[in-house]
Amino acid sequence: MPTQNSSIHGEWSSRLAFILAAAGSAVGLGNIWKFPYMAGENGGGAFVLVYLAFIALFGLPIMMAEVLLGRRGRQSPINTLKSLCQQEQVSKLWSVIGWSGMLAGVLILSYYSVIAGWSLFYVLESAAGGLLAIQEQAAEDLFTNLLSDPVTLVFWHSIFMFMTMVVVARGVSNGLEVAVRFLMPMLFVLILILIAYAISQGGFLQGLQFMFTPDFSKLNGDVLLDAMGQAFFSLSLGMGAIMMYGSYLPQTASISRTTLAVAIADSSVAILAGLAIFPIVFVNNLATAQGPGLIFNTLPLAFGQMPGGIIFGTLFFLLLVFAAWTSSISLIEPAVAWLVETKKQSRLKASIVCGIVTWLIGLGTVLSFNHWDSITLFGKTVFDCLDYLTFNIMLPLGGLLIALFVGWVMREQAVREEINLQQEMVYQVWRVLLKYFTPIGLVVVFLSAIGII
Ligand code: PHE
Repeated sequence: MPTQNSSIHGEWSSRLAFILAAAGSAVGLGNIWKFPYMAGENGGGAFVLVYLAFIALFGLPIMMAEVLLGRRGRQSPINTLKSLCQQEQVSKLWSVIGWSGMLAGVLILSYYSVIAGWSLFYVLESAAGGLLAIQEQAAEDLFTNLLSDPVTLVFWHSIFMFMTMVVVARGVSNGLEVAVRFLMPMLFVLILILIAYAISQGGFLQGLQFMFTPDFSKLNGDVLLDAMGQAFFSLSLGMGAIMMYGSYLPQTASISRTTLAVAIADSSVAILAGLAIFPIVFVNNLATAQGPGLIFNTLPLAFGQMPGGIIFGTLFFLLLVFAAWTSSISLIEPAVAWLVETKKQSRLKASIVCGIVTWLIGLGTVLSFNHWDSITLFGKTVFDCLDYLTFNIMLPLGGLLIALFVGWVMREQAVREEINLQQEMVYQVWRVLLKYFTPIGLVVVFLSAIGII
């Protein structure tokens, strides 16, 4: 079957449009909400260093492979994989990459939307002056009360799901470009303002030290697995989001340069978010390992005290919602595109179906913070289970399969043609990383996490 040159869902207007969309997908709650609390729970420096190494050694090569698959298949991940299996004359079983990716996307969005809902709640709270001069205890109570109230949580979860599905129903490229082009730099600036505030309050050096002085005795299999999950989650890898966006990439755009740009933007936002948050943690003598509530317990303290805090706070949470929005779209797009292609449904209908299913699963996360907080499996609530399953297992496993498929299953000539790297050296390095280093590295991390090595 000849390679299709365009996708039925459209094409980016330029290379920049792809970079913006992929950066929009990558930068989200993963950078600002998840990264700081993961770093906090895993002891800081050593985790950060390993995370950055994993971004470079696993993330980049796999991201290039994922974009390559998308651009060659030009369909939703499931159908892309199906048609590539046919082209390469290999077993259709490889399309499991697409299936598990679609499932991971739905599962991640189900809780992602609840967390984005928290951010929505904080937009209003901040705008109404609720964070003004707030003290530690009050900030903690505000957050605890929010979590204990399922009705409020469901309300904001529903609003966020609705926002996501409206954009997805209209087609991803409409509006996304503008949103990312203007709002992302604004978010960046606000994080810089937070850092400036942190510097003015003291505690900055302590934060810096926490994040960049590695204490390697803190490393173990679980920390490595978390760092690996963080690298995949943060770059939106291993579940088809980047493959989907790659399927809209014009044939002439360079895959290596675009992915590098996205990875740099993404990790910078995460590091800066850490640099904004940890100083607040230290100045206020808070715990670094406080889990998913970290930013919601710390940032209000900063916004409550700084001059112009109402404006900055409102704007910050609003931009966080936007960042989450541009990510959530990419989480559900593979499922919606698949329904459109395979079941010949309209985008609207496909979006409604996917939205309702995801929203329903999200109720499990909502309840895991209150009524169901004692319902656990291996000591994990519904939210913890979904998080562990997707973040620590499904995404890295998806990445592993993508590396194997592109590195070992596809004909080298097809790979070479699609990736189209100008410098032979770069191509060889990428190929070796993808064929040997990444698969072995990922397996080693998995084995060390289950205690085998
Ligand atoms: N990368 C997004 C973030 O950091 C989350 C995401 C994961 C989006 C996987 C798409 C796919 O918030």
